[in-house]
Amino acid sequence: MSQTKKKVAVLFGGRSPEHDVSIVTALQVMEALDPDLFDPIPVYVSTKGEWFTGDALRERGVYLPGPAEMERLTPVTLKLGAGGAPALESAPSGMFRKATRIELDFAFPSFHGVQGEDGCIQGAFEMAGLPYSGMRVMSASVFMDKLATKQILNDAGIPMLPSLSLPRPAKGLMLLPEEITALVGEIAFPCILKPQHLGSSIGVARVANMAELTESLPGVFRFDTHAVLEPLVPNLVEYNVAVARISAIERPKPSAELLDFKAKYLSGGGTKGGAKGTKEVGRPSEGMLSLTRDINPAIPAEMDANIRAWAVKTFDRLGGAGSPRIDFLCNSATNEIWLNEVNPAPGSFAYFLWEAASPPVSFPALLEHMIAEGEENARRNRLPTDPTPNDARLFKRK
Ligand SMILES: Nc1ncnc2c1ncn2[C@@H]1O[C@H](COP(=O)(O)OP(=O)(O)O)[C@@H](O)[C@H]1O
Ligand SMILES: [Mg+2]
Repeated sequence: MSQTKKKVAVLFGGRSPEHDVSIVTALQVMEALDPDLFDPIPVYVSTKGEWFTGDALRERGVYLPGPAEMERLTPVTLKLGAGGAPALESAPSGMFRKATRIELDFAFPSFHGVQGEDGCIQGAFEMAGLPYSGMRVMSASVFMDKLATKQILNDAGIPMLPSLSLPRPAKGLMLLPEEITALVGEIAFPCILKPQHLGSSIGVARVANMAELTESLPGVFRFDTHAVLEPLVPNLVEYNVAVARISAIERPKPSAELLDFKAKYLSGGGTKGGAKGTKEVGRPSEGMLSLTRDINPAIPAEMDANIRAWAVKTFDRLGGAGSPRIDFLCNSATNEIWLNEVNPAPGSFAYFLWEAASPPVSFPALLEHMIAEGEENARRNRLPTDPTPNDARLFKRK
């Protein structure tokens, strides 16, 4: 049995503000992958961008690895040339380390945010000839860009808020009030200001006037090259739904303030103090989840149908793959609803929405589906050994 298990590299961490959230997702994925079918190989990308593998990376307690823990890990890189089997190889550093080569069948990127969810790592997998889960290069990069998402869905008949993009200045993080006015013109406050490419509510701010906008911009520019400005939805209620088929819908519990990073990921202790070792690593209990959200809330039939139809349409528009979560904003006083964003790789791959879908899909089954889909995508997109057609060959094949 063990020879037929697929070697699945689970890659996580990385140079994104969502580094830590990605560790939680990856531990959950490694725990949920069916051990009879898959052999998960952890590949941790440090905040500096170095790649490591090693069994210690399966333990929650090792994060973030310090110098002593790093000693137990093996630095690796992904072999980019597509000839031969895709593999992880020892980085050429450290003359005392034994050279390592780990052949891979599949890559399961479990990153959130830049370089992992936005098409960058997906491009590396394409170059390496390594089948991978989730969105391919173009859909990942478009959906990680809040403005590009709106542009690509512009004629899809899905309501979306108008938004403006403000570029980070060439020098420093401050834009002068007159520069901002030149970019945004006359706008009605209050607005929401947010990074164009990040997630987890990092840098999201409510701004009530020009002075607050000027003050808040550096907080966004510290993390992102562009800020997005859009009207604030009053009486906000949110609805999120994951798509592969169609998951349950969740409604995050309303709060007076924006859900911030900590509220989303740390409240209720769901990511803290999980049992050492394997079982239930970082998996929030049902009770904890229900503190922060209503799953399958009662909503008007028309809204329910719209959310599902718009989510599927969005997914299909760019040949979606994986388990993206598509998020909507709703004004609960008027029941107006807008598509807000697509998360190509949402936290925990939104497994709890699949468990509550009808029919329910278990987390291991979701992961198995994502792997089968990635393999099918790779088969469909495989290039011939010599991709140059006969009539385009300028040089003799020897
Ligand atoms: N236009 C808006 N009006 C009111 N609240 C908003 C608006 N846009 C975002 N928010 C709030 O900020 C949160 C984070 O914004 P979002 O666009 O989802 O970015 P992120 O990629 O960080 O999740 C949302 O979940 C919502 O609570
Ligand atoms: Mg969001």
